Amino acid sequence: NLCDTPPAPLADQDFAPILDWIAAEVRPWVGRGKVADYIPRLAEVPADRFGMAVATLDGRLLQVGDAEEAFSIQSISKVFTLTMALEALGNELWNRVGREPSGSPYNSLVQLEREHGIPRNPLINAGAHVVADVILSSDDDARGRLLSFVRARSDDMAVEMDPEVARSERVAGYRNTALANFIRSFGNLDNPVEAVLDFYYHQCAIRMNCVDLARSFLYLANRGRCQHSGEVVISPERAKRINAIMLTCGTYDAAGEFAFRVGLPAKSGVGGGIVAVVPNVLAVAVWSPGLDDKGNSLAGAQALDLFTTRTGLSVF
Ligand code: DON
Repeated sequence: NLCDTPPAPLADQDFAPILDWIAAEVRPWVGRGKVADYIPRLAEVPADRFGMAVATLDGRLLQVGDAEEAFSIQSISKVFTLTMALEALGNELWNRVGREPSGSPYNSLVQLEREHGIPRNPLINAGAHVVADVILSSDDDARGRLLSFVRARSDDMAVEMDPEVARSERVAGYRNTALANFIRSFGNLDNPVEAVLDFYYHQCAIRMNCVDLARSFLYLANRGRCQHSGEVVISPERAKRINAIMLTCGTYDAAGEFAFRVGLPAKSGVGGGIVAVVPNVLAVAVWSPGLDDKGNSLAGAQALDLFTTRTGLSVF
């Protein structure tokens, strides 16, 4: 078992055979779990896919399996919008959204009433609606701005939003409609509910592959600086805080279990993607559409567990 041998020092770690080994080890999990079907368009994605990519701050890019096949990033987009909203509104954002794990499913309504329309954190759906509202208020072309942000971070100008996925989610979006109306009733949305949801569905409908995603999260591994453009995306302090929120809230009511197994700041999406950050070292993205009962990729979580155990690259 590769996990039983001590990891090499970082500079000598050869990630290529490790990724091949992981792809072979997770085979039994690929195709298991449930492909998200509450967004009709996502139900059509074949379940038997697995891809993984690692992008390191010392310039290495490694991949295995279906790492270049694009998928719907869904909630992973909440990290990009949180970054943009923090830059737009600064720390005032924390008056409108909290930063505690919810311990509840990502689309839950229950805490919102007791907590007066202030969502627990920006990575659950309710929190992402407030974040979307902040971005809409800060830019006339919020969608265009988000796309440019994601294209610059991934160094891939071909990244797009899939209008069919956005439309398909809107048609079936009873939960999100309820959440956004409820938040608005507390006065915590400035823009019309329809506009907030339209932006939110489009951010979730961004299509990227594992290579794009690993590259695009490098600014969070790199104290806020984009590795390829050299641009300061966010301050080191904010990069630290976003990583902390990913660790405690990025996988919803499975965040404790995820920290236990993987031990990295990470964000998942119901499209089956998960991106994780090793601060000061690398970003790693996995994709496999079969989900566990909390909405996280089954094979993806298993792959990240093996990755951190084998390489010793975890925050713990
Ligand atoms: O709003 C929704 O339900 C989806 N657009 C996103 C949810 C999601 O990705 C949760 N992830 N695990």
